[in-house]
Amino acid sequence: MWTTKLLHDKVVLVTGASSGIGAATATLFARAGANVVLTARRTDKLAEVCRACEEANRAGQTGKGGRYAAVSLDMTNTEQVNKVLTLLPEWGRDVDVLVNNAGLAVGTDRVGDVKPDAIDRMLNTNVHGLIHITQQLVREFKARNSGHIINLGSIAGVNAYPGGSVYCASKAALHSFTTALRMELVDTPIRVSEIQPGMVETEFSLVRYRGDQSAADKVYEGIEPLTAEDIAEEVVWAASRKPHVNVADVLILPTNQASSYHVSRK
Ligand SMILES: NC(=O)c1ccc[n+]([C@@H]2O[C@H](COP(=O)([O-])OP(=O)(O)OC[C@H]3O[C@@H](n4cnc5c(N)ncnc54)[C@H](OP(=O)(O)O)[C@@H]3O)[C@@H](O)[C@H]2O)c1
Repeated sequence: MWTTKLLHDKVVLVTGASSGIGAATATLFARAGANVVLTARRTDKLAEVCRACEEANRAGQTGKGGRYAAVSLDMTNTEQVNKVLTLLPEWGRDVDVLVNNAGLAVGTDRVGDVKPDAIDRMLNTNVHGLIHITQQLVREFKARNSGHIINLGSIAGVNAYPGGSVYCASKAALHSFTTALRMELVDTPIRVSEIQPGMVETEFSLVRYRGDQSAADKVYEGIEPLTAEDIAEEVVWAASRKPHVNVADVLILPTNQASSYHVSRK
């Protein structure tokens, strides 16, 4: 494995760690010898991922890290998000790396038909929640003059597509927020990165199609999508660079996807 000692005993906070990219990222950080705080709404799933972190840490044989905590956090609950630091275990309060991963798309309705609850869930999770938690951590990072924020953007924030208006807008908002934050912190050692995946097979499409497994499966028909582990590798790679290296934006696509709408299916 290519990670360096730079992650040993670091504290990493991963939002949306109960499945997909967040779960894989938490596990890979654990393997690299970091301590990880995992947040999401489904605490039973978080407990499973904590066990996977323990196993991965043993397999990594770094002799470092080894602390994992599952913290219930709903990113749409602003009050909860604004007191996130009080919810963390004592060892987890000095966060070194914040991975803003929690996010979702709901539906593929066209403008005029997008359900009000879908609009609220996407914007409150992907944009408002992310901004509120980042504010908490940026204050801490500035006080300590260190830290790294890694945001999960998307190809959807680069090319919008019909049926994805609100989701695409949320990821474009994340991109602007991330870019402005990087500029604001340019005279500090605090790093700001954005990872923009294309199609990744996770629970993402199942959530988007409100539990319709066959609709979710169709998204990946005839193409080999990225895996959650592919993206976790990018996140952990960004976090494990030397302090003078800031991985700014990484667009990572399946080989047979060239944009949101250029996909070759066999
Ligand atoms: N899959 C893709 O093709 C793809 C492509 C580009 C970008 N992304 C982005 O990658 C990130 C992770 O997605 P994924 O593909 O890994 O999907 P996933 O398997 O559905 O995971 C989404 C995670 O977000 C959490 N989450 C959703 N709503 C939340 C809320 N209100 N409060 C707290 N946590 C919440 C979920 O946890 P709970 O349900 O337990 O709360 C879950 O852990 C998202 O930001 C997504 O937009 C995905």
